[in-house]
Amino acid sequence: MLNIAVKAARRAGNLIYRSTDKIDHLTVTKKSHADFVTEVDRAAEQVIMQTLLEAYPDHAILAEESGTHGESEYVWIIDPLDGTTNFLHGFPQFAVSIALQHKGILTQAVIYDPVRNELFTATRGRGAFLNDKRIRVTKRLHMADALIGTGFPYSNFQHLDAYLAILRDVMQQSSGLRRPGSAALDLAWMAAGRYDGFFETGLKPWDIAAGCLLITEAGGMVSDLAGNQNHLKSGHICTGNPDIHTHLLKIITPHLSAGLKG
Ligand code: IPD
Ligand code: CA
Ligand code: CA
Repeated sequence: MLNIAVKAARRAGNLIYRSTDKIDHLTVTKKSHADFVTEVDRAAEQVIMQTLLEAYPDHAILAEESGTHGESEYVWIIDPLDGTTNFLHGFPQFAVSIALQHKGILTQAVIYDPVRNELFTATRGRGAFLNDKRIRVTKRLHMADALIGTGFPYSNFQHLDAYLAILRDVMQQSSGLRRPGSAALDLAWMAAGRYDGFFETGLKPWDIAAGCLLITEAGGMVSDLAGNQNHLKSGHICTGNPDIHTHLLKIITPHLSAGLKG
């Protein structure tokens, strides 16, 4: 199943990469404030779905642009192009994200960065890999040494005050903060040891499903902002190596407003 997901991710990634030459000529539609979709997002999603359904016609799909298809104990969760705003600006940080859930448990994950040709994969219980080399989360113990990733709220500003209070504390206590603009790739980079911790609010299952499995298979911790396992549903996520995850939760929890606790 991982091989089929890799095939789908590579096909979509190549399509996206070829389209970087013609971004000025693409049809762009606004979904909501600062939330765009292009014909490339849709074409990439079609290629992924075709590849998966050709191999597994009975499996169900939850895909960002076209929603849910079918019913099965196997559900593929797809973000065909994570980082559309970056893609539209020629800012080279975007990826394809595909995860498989079996009976509600994440079992396979692929995140493909077509710009760097980096393929992140994980199978439950078998570790996480970058281009076939085993990856692990970092071993840094202290916030003062830690590089932390995040994503800024950009469309829904309901929790902005709480988010900014958290950001202020993390900024002062960590060794650096980054906001590259593709949550899927952020999580893959967390698994690969390029960050020590990462947090974001208001994400969707397709932004994080594959990344969550990559991180746990790389030895990291993933939770919602209150430290519980509701992140796939709430979209509020806190991850890190085991030590930095604990530190981050300590910083975050005092700032949690009601809607961010889930
Ligand atoms: C977005 C990216 C971004 C995150 C947003 C997502 P999209 O995905 O992952 O980093 O901050 O919340 O919506 O819309 O480019 O697929
Ligand atoms: Ca996304
Ligand atoms: Ca997307």
